[in-house]
Amino acid sequence: MSLLNFSIFHPVLMLSAFIGTADGYYHNRMDECVYSTSDYSDMVYLLSYSFNKAVELQYNSTVGKFVGFTEFGVKRAERLNKDQARLQQLKAQVDTFCRHNAQILDSAVRDETVLPKVKLSSVKQAEGNHPAVLMCSAYDFYPEQIKVSWLRDGKLMTSEVTSTMKMADGDWYYQIHSELEYTPTSGEKVSCVVEHASSTQPIVKDWNPSMPESERNKITIGSSGLVLGIIIAAAGLIYYKKKSSGRILVPN
Ligand SMILES: *[C@@H]1O[C@H](CO)[C@@H](O)[C@H](O)[C@H]1NC(C)=O
Repeated sequence: MSLLNFSIFHPVLMLSAFIGTADGYYHNRMDECVYSTSDYSDMVYLLSYSFNKAVELQYNSTVGKFVGFTEFGVKRAERLNKDQARLQQLKAQVDTFCRHNAQILDSAVRDETVLPKVKLSSVKQAEGNHPAVLMCSAYDFYPEQIKVSWLRDGKLMTSEVTSTMKMADGDWYYQIHSELEYTPTSGEKVSCVVEHASSTQPIVKDWNPSMPESERNKITIGSSGLVLGIIIAAAGLIYYKKKSSGRILVPN
């Protein structure tokens, strides 16, 4: 898959108007712009009228007229199709409404790409017969479309990938986590490859089997805490001993 494909999705711009009545009848008018190319050459404008969720008639700019789907819809389409001025107006919506708004929206949102921050970490180290688990995480990227894969000495690993989870951060950014379960052998190179529209080159992170810095830091912090705890406990014990033995020495 070429990288360009990641940056082109199949967006639909939508505008919808509901008219409801207290007794449960709903009329709905929906304007849609459907396209899948970045030059908007395949832009289609759709206008649908629905009654109680069922589409009754629809204008499709490729067809150039209304088409009815229900008995009432067919009659209404026939009547609307006699109004040439209106049909011309709707045809123009492809440019004035769809291409115009798609351009604004895409440059403001879709084409704004943000490079993922990629982190490779160890979830579980290999122990006896148990395989090691690595996790490749990409944070704070936009847009959502992303591909995470694993390489072992340059060869794609597939069966060993156990889970991939993508989440929306809720702030327009996304994160993804992919886990790899494998049995390490010495001298091999395991890498995580991230492909995203924000980068023309794949982002490659090689796994360094020696203990990663974060793990070292954790051990350093943990052992410092332990030593500090022992010193404080010992000091407390000595203080307590001194105080209680001192109390005995004081005559009543
Ligand atoms: C619009 O009409 C064309 C021609 O019939 C059709 O190919 C296309 O699928 C329609 N578009 C949508 C989104 O329904």
